[in-house]
Amino acid sequence: MSIYQMKSKIISYSFIVVATFSLLTFSFARAEEDEIKKVDYNKEVIVDSDLDGLTDKGEQQIYNTNPASIDSDGDSYLDGAEVLADTDPMDAQDYPGHRALDIAKITDAVNQEIPWAWYVSRAAGILGFIFLWITIFLGLSIRNPLLKRFIEPIYSFDFHCFTAAVAVFWALVHGTSFLFDSMIGFGIKDVAIPFYTQSELIHGNALALGIMAFYAMVVMTITSYLRAHMSHWLWRALHFLNPLAFIFVVIHGYVIGTDMKNFYIGSAFLFSSFLLALIYLSSLVFVIVNKFKRKDEHSN
Ligand code: HEM
Repeated sequence: MSIYQMKSKIISYSFIVVATFSLLTFSFARAEEDEIKKVDYNKEVIVDSDLDGLTDKGEQQIYNTNPASIDSDGDSYLDGAEVLADTDPMDAQDYPGHRALDIAKITDAVNQEIPWAWYVSRAAGILGFIFLWITIFLGLSIRNPLLKRFIEPIYSFDFHCFTAAVAVFWALVHGTSFLFDSMIGFGIKDVAIPFYTQSELIHGNALALGIMAFYAMVVMTITSYLRAHMSHWLWRALHFLNPLAFIFVVIHGYVIGTDMKNFYIGSAFLFSSFLLALIYLSSLVFVIVNKFKRKDEHSN
């Protein structure tokens, strides 16, 4: 597979991941919502005494209709038919077919109910983290004698820059998606200026770490693409922002991330971060040991 094919695959797969994650989180949220509405039969036999299509317990616990009457509001439509048609079985003025479907109203209700921007943002945040992880992993492994032999076949500086750019892209999608989330109500300054937000829904300091990490990622990615045109020392110095940006992202995501409250996702997030920290430390030890070795060779 050529590097070009690999890059296009990474781009298309990451879009699929965001779409799937958004759909999955949406479905889980709906399932949880439905659970609240679930009827508690308390292991009793399920009965529909009046044969209106709704169980007795359902009529009592959810719809507040009369389990002994097929038409609780007397509008001549069965209670069960009204529930299916989404009209109120307790309101005689509201019955199937008496009002034209207000498409705009339904679309509005659906949009209000499904916070797409929030789902997309969460998926994009996690994907941004994954690509940041891969970028740092590649950069560290190529200098680490233990990992170098495994990484060398797929490594190129061009590929390293590419994964960094993909991380920036998803972090950008992640941050800007909140502008479209009416629940959180962020404006451009909330997502662009560290410590600006006054929102009570979000931990302001943790949010600021994410915003600063984003700027650091942008600087590192741009300077990496421009490496050939700048001093090596400046590029290296800027690259030291890497561990800082990563630590900022880990604290940011773990403190305010909704999905981090899920034991498995939160643990995977922390474990992978810890692993990267170990690789970072071992690479640092190799660099220091090599420096001493070279000094010794020179002095001999
Ligand atoms: C532009 C700056 C950023 C803003 C405004 C921002 C905002 C947010 C907000 C509001 C949340 C909480 C969302 C939730 O309810 O789960 C969050 C979570 C998260 N952010 Fe950021 N963030 C920014 C930068 C970043 C960057 C640069 C990364 C990584 C590359 C990142 C990765 C994450 C992750 C992994 C989560 C947890 C997502 C989850 O639990 O599903 N963020 N961010």
